[in-house]
Amino acid sequence: MNSFNYQYPVRQHFGKGCAENALKEEMKKVGKQVLLAYGGGSIKRTGLYDKICQWLEESGKEVVDFGGIMPNPTYAKVQEGARIVRDEHIDFILAVGGGSVIDCCKIVSSQAMMDVDAWDDWYVGHNLPKEFVPMGAVVTASGTGAEQNNGAVITNEEKKLKQPLFGAFHSFAILDSDLTKTQPMKQVISGAFDTLSHCMETYMGKPQSTNVSDEVNEAVMRNVIKNIHAIIADPDDDFARGELMWDSAMAENGLLKLGKVTDFQCHMIEHAVGAYTDCNHGQGLAILHPTFYRHLLNAGTAKLARMAQEVWGVKSDVEGVTYRNADAAELRTIAEKGIAALEAFIKGIGLPTHWSEIDITDDAVLRAASDTCFITPGCCKQMSRNEIFELLKECK
Ligand code: NZQ
Ligand code: ZN
Repeated sequence: MNSFNYQYPVRQHFGKGCAENALKEEMKKVGKQVLLAYGGGSIKRTGLYDKICQWLEESGKEVVDFGGIMPNPTYAKVQEGARIVRDEHIDFILAVGGGSVIDCCKIVSSQAMMDVDAWDDWYVGHNLPKEFVPMGAVVTASGTGAEQNNGAVITNEEKKLKQPLFGAFHSFAILDSDLTKTQPMKQVISGAFDTLSHCMETYMGKPQSTNVSDEVNEAVMRNVIKNIHAIIADPDDDFARGELMWDSAMAENGLLKLGKVTDFQCHMIEHAVGAYTDCNHGQGLAILHPTFYRHLLNAGTAKLARMAQEVWGVKSDVEGVTYRNADAAELRTIAEKGIAALEAFIKGIGLPTHWSEIDITDDAVLRAASDTCFITPGCCKQMSRNEIFELLKECK
């Protein structure tokens, strides 16, 4: 196992119906002026906005509104938030939403404390921010695990890039599965698939040998798959909803990544397509993953075969053969069957497997995405930009 240091700063409040008590408890620890950050309006339609405002008022807070954070949050929106934080002397940022609201707030939290431009500071100066306005998250859409880490994915519209920036860790995350019940089922499923993708991208990182993080990861992946089926069968299955919420947290709280360099190449390709198309993150990943793994088949055979058997329950046709004792040809067959099982799962849960299903058909967009995609170091095979373009076209 690779060496690591691990420290985790995010307090977790998990449980059906926990939001009110958890928020009031946390508000005792923060200053008076609170920025309430939220998305495009679901929070108002569902009545959550009124409840949160009431809980904040009962906690003695002055609330400043920062709404309209869009899916795939833009850098311009980050700058708007940072201006409000400075102008209104905000003591604490409360993000109420999914990955987009939470990510936007992480960079608002750092940009508000910086004189320089946060994008250039990271991508030109390679400096990590050091000072932050404290923040916490009430999660209304799980899957990204954005509340668990300090990475944010921001779309820089001017530069046509959707890429990571690093901001604050939240001091707390409120994971109340009741708050996710108003989400459309398609979004619940694409969020849960995002969690599965995080697990797979971590599992397929380097080194390819299996450590304890990978074995825990296998259990989380099986749990996500089981509970996606459960929630499709019964959207009122609160147990499954809670499990998926904690799976999402587990995939991004760092535990599964210990002792590894993660891959996340599939994510970077999806983000690049997202920069040009604004496509839904989980759906884009669903389209890419099986084809991406076919491109990794030679370099990652053993790990893909292990995942096939341990996660997808694939069996060899040859009696007594497993990924542990298979010869090279059979190992490849097991790996291929695992990729087919992943693809069948994606279709079975109603997610897309081709760009055409979400109206992405323009080769120029796919070429631009491959030319600007961020190349990660963790992949067992470093793909060229031309191969990424071929992969993207195979998904049409
Ligand atoms: O904006 P509103 O009106 O609130 O509607 C949102 C949005 O349209 C809606 N929604 C959220 N909670 C709801 C709800 N609708 C009804 N009831 C609720 N309880 O859902 C829509 C999608 O929300 P969004 O936050 O965009 O979705 P998600 O949580 O999937 O976040 C996606 C973003 O997170 C980034 C993605 O790239 C994308 O920008 N990611 C962040 C990561 C991180 N920081 O670690 C990791 C991920 O891999 C991912 O890249
Ligand atoms: Zn993701």
